[in-house]
Amino acid sequence: MSIPPNPQRVTSTAPWQELQDYKESFVGTTLREIFNQEATRVEDMTIQAGPLHIDLSKNLADARVMELLVQLGEAMGLPEYRDAMMAGATVNTTENRAALHTALRIPVDQNFEVDGVDVAADVHEVLGRMRDFCRDLRSGRWLGITGRTIKQVVNIGIGGSDLGPSMAATALRPYRTAGIEPYFVSNLDPADLSAALDALDPESCLFVISSKTFSTQETLVNARAAKQWLLTELERRGVPADTSAQRQAIIEKHFVAVSTNREAVTEFGIDPANMFGFWDWVGGRYSVDSAIGLTLMAAIGPQDFDQFLAGLHDVDEHFRTAPMHANAPALMGLLSVWYRDFLDSQSHAVMPYSEDLREFPDYLQQLTMESLGKSVRLDGSKVGVPTGPVYWGAPGTNGQHAFFQLLHQGTQLIPSDFIGFCNPHGEVTTQPEGTKMHDMLMANFFAQTRVLAFGRTADELRAAGTPEELIPHKEMPGNQPSTTILADMLTPRSLGGLIALYEHITFVQSVIWGINAFDQWGVEFGKLQTSDLLPAVRGTADVAAGDGSTDALISFYRQHRNEG
Ligand code: F6P
Repeated sequence: MSIPPNPQRVTSTAPWQELQDYKESFVGTTLREIFNQEATRVEDMTIQAGPLHIDLSKNLADARVMELLVQLGEAMGLPEYRDAMMAGATVNTTENRAALHTALRIPVDQNFEVDGVDVAADVHEVLGRMRDFCRDLRSGRWLGITGRTIKQVVNIGIGGSDLGPSMAATALRPYRTAGIEPYFVSNLDPADLSAALDALDPESCLFVISSKTFSTQETLVNARAAKQWLLTELERRGVPADTSAQRQAIIEKHFVAVSTNREAVTEFGIDPANMFGFWDWVGGRYSVDSAIGLTLMAAIGPQDFDQFLAGLHDVDEHFRTAPMHANAPALMGLLSVWYRDFLDSQSHAVMPYSEDLREFPDYLQQLTMESLGKSVRLDGSKVGVPTGPVYWGAPGTNGQHAFFQLLHQGTQLIPSDFIGFCNPHGEVTTQPEGTKMHDMLMANFFAQTRVLAFGRTADELRAAGTPEELIPHKEMPGNQPSTTILADMLTPRSLGGLIALYEHITFVQSVIWGINAFDQWGVEFGKLQTSDLLPAVRGTADVAAGDGSTDALISFYRQHRNEG
């Protein structure tokens, strides 16, 4: 099934032209003015998307802008491209693949066939095997080679094979109740693996080698080193590893793989019976809810993993069925285009007011920037307008004491998303008079978006008795846009909802720009260059990168490299 690249250029649509014209009179309008003019704004711009309560009203866009953005989405075929993606069309045209991550969370009682293949059955077969495996681990039925239960599960993977499961396992810390501690090793810097190995007990650890391609340098190097470490450490404890049968028996109990590449997994020495598969229609950065989530499932258990899938599906359904003017991912994606292309913003901040969600901005960086860091359209022509903003962020309240000053009184427009929860996991009551820490945290949360939106005027400062010479320094312009996302609690379900929300926001932007959100040719070329340079860096070939700077740097490195 295929859908042709959109021949329509966004800049030649009528709504784009109208937005250009309207922008001229809109620039300079304040959020205070917009709130005064639009009596039902908060109601109109608040959306329930699955488990997420989303307030868009503090965005720097009035009702007319929102109307034109919706028209822009329609002019670019957003509903049609959304439906095509979800139906399994080949939307990733440069790799000739579908992007069917929404099928990973399809409920068990729903059928879903693509080109004669029962995709739902395939997904649920793997999920079933994952559940059985995790139940065995958690109940102590799966034992290490010396008969010890598995207590430490180490995911070795990078990019999408690391960031999603690591972020989710951190976010769902309170759900890790079975005594299985998850670890994540990704970096080629040996410091990463060493730090994990220092904490591991070779008799009760299990490695999950996660790589869609099973050819990623970082993952294979770390996996080989982990294998060597395990054999050596077990041998020290009297477990023989002299024959290949003995080594195989150890690997069988302590290594499993998650991949689409059965052949490479077998070649690495992992029994294909201990491999959990997925499909080329799952992009790396969209794969946390595939078998790539195995370490997460081991840590939180199959039931909570099912809740996680349900949260993803909740938001898929919202994206699929809500009308565009009340569709949270559609509006958030369209607002991103508005800020990037009409109001010249360069970046987008994401602030989770939750320490457990601290890895969420890092996870989003791959999802959004690997997807939207493109400058040509699907048909190969130049996009011609700025695309993907830089996504960044840090948890509140820490961010308030680091970079918020630039948001409050700097010179750049930086839209942001504030993510908070009505209830914490575990209350802590403190001074004064039994105040709950979570209420304090959330008072900060609400205060920041309020100040960012509405600022503080010179008149208000004067009325508060501020000395005249300090007024320019204390005046806050406001009009810094934000979206507030609230959920009841940070649960598997609300986390699933958040992930699907941002997956779809990313897709929406790609449709408007007409770019491919599912390939990453720049990263692929970076990998090739590394292989080309390695011999010179190792000193087994002459330095000949071809450009003076790289040649000189590698020569300097070689001269200062201590061998041995
Ligand atoms: O970073 C580039 C990339 O290709 C990502 O898209 C992917 O998530 C990551 O490498 C890891 O790839 P693999 O799962 O095949 O090891």
